Amino acid sequence: MWVLPGTTVLEAATQAGLRIDTPCGGSGTCGKCRVRFVRGAPDAGDAEVDLLDPEDIDAGWRLACQARISASSILALPGTSLFDDPLQILTESEQIVEISRGEPPHRRLPFSLVEGRANYAVAFDVGTTTLVGEIVELPSARERAVAAGINPQVSFGDDVVSRIGRACQSTAAAQELRQAVVGALNQRIDELLDQAGGRREDVRALSFSGNTTMQHLLCGWDVSNLAHLPFAPAQVEALDAPAEELGFAVAADARAYVLPMIGGFVGGDTVAGILATRLFDEAGATLMIDIGTNGEIVLAAGGRIYAASAAAGPAFEGARIACGMRAAAGAIEKVIFDGDLRVSVIGGVSPIGLCGSALVDIAAELLRCGLLEATGRLRPAGGLCEPLRRRLRTDKTGEAEFLLADGEGDRPDVVLKQRDIRELQLATGAIRAGVGIVLHQAGLQPSDLSRVLIAGGFGSFIRRSNAQRIGLIPTGLSHENVSYVGNVSLHGAKWALVSAGARAQAERIARETKHVELSTDPNFQSAFAEAMLFPET
Ligand code: FES
Repeated sequence: MWVLPGTTVLEAATQAGLRIDTPCGGSGTCGKCRVRFVRGAPDAGDAEVDLLDPEDIDAGWRLACQARISASSILALPGTSLFDDPLQILTESEQIVEISRGEPPHRRLPFSLVEGRANYAVAFDVGTTTLVGEIVELPSARERAVAAGINPQVSFGDDVVSRIGRACQSTAAAQELRQAVVGALNQRIDELLDQAGGRREDVRALSFSGNTTMQHLLCGWDVSNLAHLPFAPAQVEALDAPAEELGFAVAADARAYVLPMIGGFVGGDTVAGILATRLFDEAGATLMIDIGTNGEIVLAAGGRIYAASAAAGPAFEGARIACGMRAAAGAIEKVIFDGDLRVSVIGGVSPIGLCGSALVDIAAELLRCGLLEATGRLRPAGGLCEPLRRRLRTDKTGEAEFLLADGEGDRPDVVLKQRDIRELQLATGAIRAGVGIVLHQAGLQPSDLSRVLIAGGFGSFIRRSNAQRIGLIPTGLSHENVSYVGNVSLHGAKWALVSAGARAQAERIARETKHVELSTDPNFQSAFAEAMLFPET
């Protein structure tokens, strides 16, 4: 292909239809967009000198967001830098407990149908990383197809903070973010209609649930106040508007419903989760945790619902982890120690990195074997399990690392570094401290909990015992009292799609849920520092 001199590799790849993973939004700080110039490498810039090894720079490795093409070049784009591999995205799960499969309350359609032809409606979970849609046939509300894909806004940064930053740059930038997500949602609608055998004009209604930032960007609302304290959303009420107004070319009179929100970082996805799990009906104290970049924490106790959002950071998505990657082909997703180390790799291919669930597994196994201290320090000299201890070594800078899989040829070893454990401690600590503060506000202890529900894509791929061992979810509950509830954001969006009663209930949940602000809670910092330590047993 031809590009103008000075074009970055990132821009050239985008023009070629390749999507490079840019966790830091192309600011040259994460080092994850590595590409290799086979020919025509430009001089390395400051960010590349900082983030890449000198040998790698000599071998032609550069950062796609920084390197500018100045001569005829040949480039190799490694799988770890691309978004092209299908991600492991949770759409539906075998393990979803029944509460999220029930019938929506008081089902009365909140829109009209057309006699004598097919009628469909589509619900969406608009995630920061992924978009998942489900098409249902009306009036039965029977599911016909599910489709998932990447939220193309990831090209502007991995987390909501970078998206807010980008949207605040200019009206055009905010518009670009909105068009990116609307375009991708329209594509998902086409895929769903292909599978279900319908046409655009058969779609009578749409519903959307996402975190507060995603919903704001979708609706074109101002996000500037989400960038600073007190993180006040421009709007928290639900939106019920013509679908066309939001940019969706479906039936001319189709409606779009966007779920109501609770606060700056507790959005419609949390409302949808409370709705779908019927948390308000739970008899005992029940905690729901959605583990992701933002860990959403919801507690139902004593007739009240409390909700908070803990900034866990992107460690569970594989960012800021040396060999971290998303849950895509080549990612080690599961690690088991049964006398020796066994790893399971997504796609059954050779391992090229590890994703969040493997991070939890390996930390738990190392803690059990005494090779990892409660403080988070790897102990090369300690521990009982010889096969694991043999894998502990130091790299050439003197940093301790644990070998998960040997490399081969061009493929480097997959390792877990000491600093990766620190990132895991930050992520786990934020959620654990958040849970502690929410329980405290309700006047409860972890031992008062009767049930814990784990929601969301990532949560469904982790093992309960390991999550408990590292302190990510409260200990002391028996196995059967910790349940996976799957993508409750999508389930709740579906209920709100097809039921006027569910919409009323969602609006009541948003109004009555107590929003616990962790960032301003005076106890949060000390709780966080304490929660950074792994539990002793
Ligand atoms: S360094 Fe290029 S995207 Fe982060």
